Amino acid sequence: MTTLSVNGNTVTVKSEPDTPLLWVLRDELKLTGTKYGCGVAQCGACTVHLDGLPRRSCVAPVGQLEGGEVTTIEGLSNRQIKALQEAWAALDVPQCGYCQSGQLMTAAALLAEIPKPTDADIDAAMAGNVCRCATYVRIRAAIHLAADTMEG
Ligand code: FES
Ligand code: FES
Repeated sequence: MTTLSVNGNTVTVKSEPDTPLLWVLRDELKLTGTKYGCGVAQCGACTVHLDGLPRRSCVAPVGQLEGGEVTTIEGLSNRQIKALQEAWAALDVPQCGYCQSGQLMTAAALLAEIPKPTDADIDAAMAGNVCRCATYVRIRAAIHLAADTMEG
């Protein structure tokens, strides 16, 4: 059993220690906003925050996260994600939507670290988040819009 914080709640999970966090979240805790894409840390669909930083939950054995603070798309409520969600809606970013929770988690971490990112900052931070619908141009525009909103 592993005890960790998920979205501000202390939980003790029964999954085996080598179970990837992704499956603990989805199967044991029923937090299905975090998606499975590749399972090998190559697509970013499964991105959550661990102790405030983006982490690929598909390759994070839960047994190594004892005492950690995990935040998922369901629990993130800081000013970065609020500005991003508004920008995402204003610019109609999602297409099929599958990759978008991972995109938003990575973008929120970027804005927490760099409140006014350049195109290069955005491209570097988002490079590991794949979108099969190729919404990259709108994602970049929406991150700039969210940054402007936060600045104002
Ligand atoms: S499912 Fe984790 S990076 Fe693709
Ligand atoms: S919106 Fe379809 S995979 Fe990104």
